[in-house]
Amino acid sequence: MIIIANWKAYVEDRGRAEKLLALSKKLARTSENTLVLAPSAPFLGLLAHNNKSRVAFAAQDVSVTTGGAKTGETTAQMYASLGAAYALIGHSERRALGDTEADVAAKVSHALACSLTPVLCVGEQERDREGRYLSTIREEITSAFAPLTQKERMKVIIAYEPLWAIGKTADSAIRSDDLSEMALYIRKVLAELLPGKNASRVPVLYGGAVEPGSARELAGATSIDGFLVGHASVDERSFAALVKELS
Ligand code: 13P
Repeated sequence: MIIIANWKAYVEDRGRAEKLLALSKKLARTSENTLVLAPSAPFLGLLAHNNKSRVAFAAQDVSVTTGGAKTGETTAQMYASLGAAYALIGHSERRALGDTEADVAAKVSHALACSLTPVLCVGEQERDREGRYLSTIREEITSAFAPLTQKERMKVIIAYEPLWAIGKTADSAIRSDDLSEMALYIRKVLAELLPGKNASRVPVLYGGAVEPGSARELAGATSIDGFLVGHASVDERSFAALVKELS
């Protein structure tokens, strides 16, 4: 399984970032899971420097632009040169701050151009009985995939993160049967965009109120390939328990 720890802006202190990395390195030594840390840009630069462990790094976002006279931007190339291997793109917290579908598509392309694996975050605001939320997921995937070649599409990871679950506790995580259904739906959309069996090779992760208890249940009862974890990934006890539950 792939476990991505999205530290968001929770970690603001260097000492805490270093402690979480030390814990992750220790966990990675005995876990068959792929552990990926997504710290803020400055801490990614600090922690990924000379990293020789099995822990990998992800940008929390990349700039919609490439380099040049763009004050304040942190480009995909910068993250790649610091040692990131992945980039979260289209997180709902970025979309809420103005990222459009076109921005998300451009960011996915920039990440791929710099050999970063894009983790494309998709998710509906809320569920409705008529199933309109499914078209949100379809639209978010198809618009980000539109400019990509078949080969590039194969390199993307999808992270399904329903907004109604993000930031809540495990009780609010999605039910496993609903997640199974959504994973199937995502694969159906991918099958329209990728020929042959390639759609089944694109990893699909889940994020939203993932804590040790919910992670175990969801991993056991669904076909998802891993988790994108927020608040539980910055609490040492929770993160250790979560990684162990999934090992
Ligand atoms: P929580 O795990 O805090 O719900 O956050 C999920 C998320 O947004 C991960 O990217």
